[in-house]
Amino acid sequence: MSKGLIIAIDGPAGSGKSTSAKLIAKKLGYLYIDTGAMYRAITYLALENEALKDESRILELARKSKIELKYNNENLVVMLNDQDVSKEIRSSDVNTHVSDVSKISAVRKLLVEKQREIGEKGSGVVMEGRDIGTVVFPNADVKIFLTASIDTRADRRAKEYFQNGSEVIVKDIKNNLSNRDKIDSSRKDSPLTKAPDAVAIDTTDITIAEQVTLIIKEVKKVALKKNIQLSI
Ligand code: DC
Repeated sequence: MSKGLIIAIDGPAGSGKSTSAKLIAKKLGYLYIDTGAMYRAITYLALENEALKDESRILELARKSKIELKYNNENLVVMLNDQDVSKEIRSSDVNTHVSDVSKISAVRKLLVEKQREIGEKGSGVVMEGRDIGTVVFPNADVKIFLTASIDTRADRRAKEYFQNGSEVIVKDIKNNLSNRDKIDSSRKDSPLTKAPDAVAIDTTDITIAEQVTLIIKEVKKVALKKNIQLSI
């Protein structure tokens, strides 16, 4: 298999990470990894086992768990111990608690190891999260940091929920996003922050096609410099 690039896309919820990462991975024929889905799966596991208040129990559950990210017609399917939890990990309960579970250093260590293992296979990966360009792959070939205004991010999330048939109140989504931003950006271990060498893109007023084009431009620049063949 030919060598591929490691592309890190970080940013807060609703900044356009998943949409861009998925499309870019498809264009390049690379693996797409949503690391947020991993933290969500552990949070769901903690909730199901009523272990939220017990860090060592969460770690034990996480250690014993098998998380697999699969694709079905381009939709991400998250398997936790052979059970499809794709829908459950997007619940409001998980939204409320995921940032607190993500603060636990031992849980991060475990998941970061898994993420590095996947990325180091070498055939090309687009990995999205909060700490991919800073901690998981500080030497990533391409680093992108996406941002967008809180109102735009809340509207995007509301639309997604609406399309999935869930009733939501935009104000509640906005509160959840602000809370998570605060916890994710201020935690001691691997806070959400832009790597100094990441390219920042504000997606507030641009289309998905435009953000993908901007990222692909960066990818092409790096590929040319590193003499890596791309399929586009
Ligand atoms: O991308 P998301 O909204 O699905 O992520 C859910 C939470 O997981 C996010 O609020 C913080 C955490 N997370 C993290 O701490 N590190 C990552 N690399 C990805 C997500």
